[in-house]
Amino acid sequence: MKVAAVGVGYVGLVAAACLADAGNDVMCVDNDPQKIDLLRDGEIPIYEPGLTEIVKRNVTAGRLKFTTSIKEGVDESLLIFIGVGTPSAPDGSADISAVLEVAEQVAESMTDYRIIVTKSTVPVGTHKLVSEIMASKTDHPFDYVSNPEFLKEGSAVDDFLKPDRVIIGTENPAVREIMKQLYAPFMRKSKRIIFMDPASAEMAKYAANVMLATRISFMNELSGLCDTFDADIEQVRRAVGSDSRIGSAFLFPGVGYGGSCFPKDVRALTYMGDQKDCPMTIAQAVRDANYHQQDRFADRVLNYFKDKKDITIAAWGLAFKAKTDDTRESPAVRCIQKFLDAGFKVNAYDPEAKPAELEGRIKTTTRSYDALENADALVIFTDWQEFRNPNFDLITEMLNSPVIFDGRNLYDPSFIKKYGIEYHSIGRPTA
Ligand code: UDX
Repeated sequence: MKVAAVGVGYVGLVAAACLADAGNDVMCVDNDPQKIDLLRDGEIPIYEPGLTEIVKRNVTAGRLKFTTSIKEGVDESLLIFIGVGTPSAPDGSADISAVLEVAEQVAESMTDYRIIVTKSTVPVGTHKLVSEIMASKTDHPFDYVSNPEFLKEGSAVDDFLKPDRVIIGTENPAVREIMKQLYAPFMRKSKRIIFMDPASAEMAKYAANVMLATRISFMNELSGLCDTFDADIEQVRRAVGSDSRIGSAFLFPGVGYGGSCFPKDVRALTYMGDQKDCPMTIAQAVRDANYHQQDRFADRVLNYFKDKKDITIAAWGLAFKAKTDDTRESPAVRCIQKFLDAGFKVNAYDPEAKPAELEGRIKTTTRSYDALENADALVIFTDWQEFRNPNFDLITEMLNSPVIFDGRNLYDPSFIKKYGIEYHSIGRPTA
């Protein structure tokens, strides 16, 4: 099939590359000429495991092309995927101006029937707005599909190739059939493709993300209570997760969730509720609990060094989670900003991330242990594999006094104790 993908961010680029890999002809469109030039040279503007290989393979095969011209993409393709960003506006709503602008340009470029497929996370009702705008700009017929994307950064390619499910929001049976064919290479069981109306598809995306954010936040809040009762959240997690009705995924307590989706989608759902006079009180509470979790972790470190001068913190992990270079709404960045405001120095190591917000304010190192030089504590923010089994002898030797604050519960407290390291983690008794 011939597909255009407008927007080469995580969602657009991964979808485009994977669709090309299944034999489709895909034209990626983005209005950033630098990104397009980079991609034409086989370079990926983001860090995402496996993506470089799949892009290169399909560029070489001639199935994946790049342009800055929407017209070129629309001319050559039956299906136009929209995967541009929908960031938070100051009032908490999702800013869909980029989606609307693309829809308008697509309509203006159309010379025949086209199918518009929205992959961006958009507020419920956007399908109507987009259809209205397009109808006002073209006399050619079109269909609209809401096709939310559920991929996770760090495993985006794998998630797209082997999705838990694909949601197709359109009422038109002929379009459903085309979408079914397009996704057939990624479906091991046809029941994994779920058809519905566009509004429900739009809502499904928010429902999934906010439910996951709620699970994590509930565990995070419980971890605080565990701290006060000397209970162990990891034991509680295992007990709770073994209930098949609950399941064991997404129950890991930590330093709080971040990223480009959960915080923004929690805010956007809250906003939608307020708009319709149907308050989303749980989403609102999740947002507050998540900030509280991040601040509670930072405050533990700050209180530990209260009244001490010239403190240096070694931080491992700067992105919002492992296996990504994305620092959007990263708990590490929020906590480190608090450390800096308190006058601490910070040496940080992350295998991929370089947060612009902290540039010039922290010292970054290219090796994890270099961050420990002259540091008074090691603070762990993400669970990169290389942090899981470090050289504890070296850590003990390098830190001024061996203290670890672990925001991801990477280590067994009784094991760490053998090294004489004071170990603070999330919702578990301090060792
Ligand atoms: C998320 C959704 O999972 C994905 O379906 C959607 O398309 C986009 O948003 P992503 O933001 O890439 O994906 O990351 P994810 O792996 O879901 O993690 C989100 C945040 O939750 C991270 O900060 C992560 O560290 C945190 N998290 C996740 C926990 O604290 N505990 C967990 O058990 C799981």
